[in-house]
Amino acid sequence: MVGLISGATALVTGAGSGIGRAVVRQLASRGAAIALLDQDAEAVGLVGKEASELGAARVVELAADVSDRVAVQDAFRSAADELGPLDALACAAGILVPGGLTEVTPDEWQRHFDVNTTGVLHCLQSGTPLLRDDAAVVVVSSNAARVPRTGMLAYAASKAATSALTRCAGLELAARGIRCNVVEPGSTDTAMLRELWRDPDGGASATLAGDPASYRVGIPLQRIAEPDDVAAMVCFLLSEEARHVTLQQIYVDGGASL
Ligand SMILES: NC(=O)c1ccc[n+]([C@@H]2O[C@H](COP(=O)([O-])OP(=O)(O)OC[C@H]3O[C@@H](n4cnc5c(N)ncnc54)[C@H](O)[C@@H]3O)[C@@H](O)[C@H]2O)c1
Repeated sequence: MVGLISGATALVTGAGSGIGRAVVRQLASRGAAIALLDQDAEAVGLVGKEASELGAARVVELAADVSDRVAVQDAFRSAADELGPLDALACAAGILVPGGLTEVTPDEWQRHFDVNTTGVLHCLQSGTPLLRDDAAVVVVSSNAARVPRTGMLAYAASKAATSALTRCAGLELAARGIRCNVVEPGSTDTAMLRELWRDPDGGASATLAGDPASYRVGIPLQRIAEPDDVAAMVCFLLSEEARHVTLQQIYVDGGASL
């Protein structure tokens, strides 16, 4: 992989908000040429404009739902037509609808898997032929993939499958020199987290303190992650500095998975 410097090519999903947006911003400020994919076309346009202002070599805006296999194939093809072979793929698109064992509906269960798991599969399958032989892939999963959480049954199960499928794909792609790693964030200050907080003012302090009734230990570092904290790990794993790192699942959660 050519290091993530001027001219490297990258595709980022979930680029319109939160962690995906932070990844785009960090890649843009290093001069990468970036394809932004999100189902929210308006958000893609806004983040694309930011990326150009930050110094992206090229910006390609793609509106697609990652759960739609044909739409993902078309979007990846457009990205490669515009940018050429990809050096980096970061998959951050995801959803979370709270619900425990007795609450989760069949539709909610299915939608978590369609977006969080099958969506990543679509990106890996569409992306593999377009990646350079020494490219890098990072999939944003969740610490809930490995730590049981109450009220997040479908989300956690879909993320566990996502982490596993990424590492299995990475094992197959290692023969081409392609590295695949999984970043598993904890509570990160994005729209997804704020929607979980019934009381936005008390939400952060309750998250930091934890809740013994829900078996949550809180966050030992006593801070909620900024999207940039997670994006920094994603960009490290995409970069030449991580050239001997593959098949890893790395928590970025301030110690919350204790
Ligand atoms: N915020 C957290 O606390 C947290 C913790 C652990 C893991 N994560 C994971 O990080 C990733 C990014 O989440 P975030 O916190 O930035 O959330 P976010 O809601 O701010 O951003 C998610 C983005 O994904 C896009 N998206 C959703 N469904 C899509 C689909 N079907 N097709 C294409 N785009 C779609 C949304 O439009 C949005 O732009 C997700 O995979 C999430 O599960 C977040």
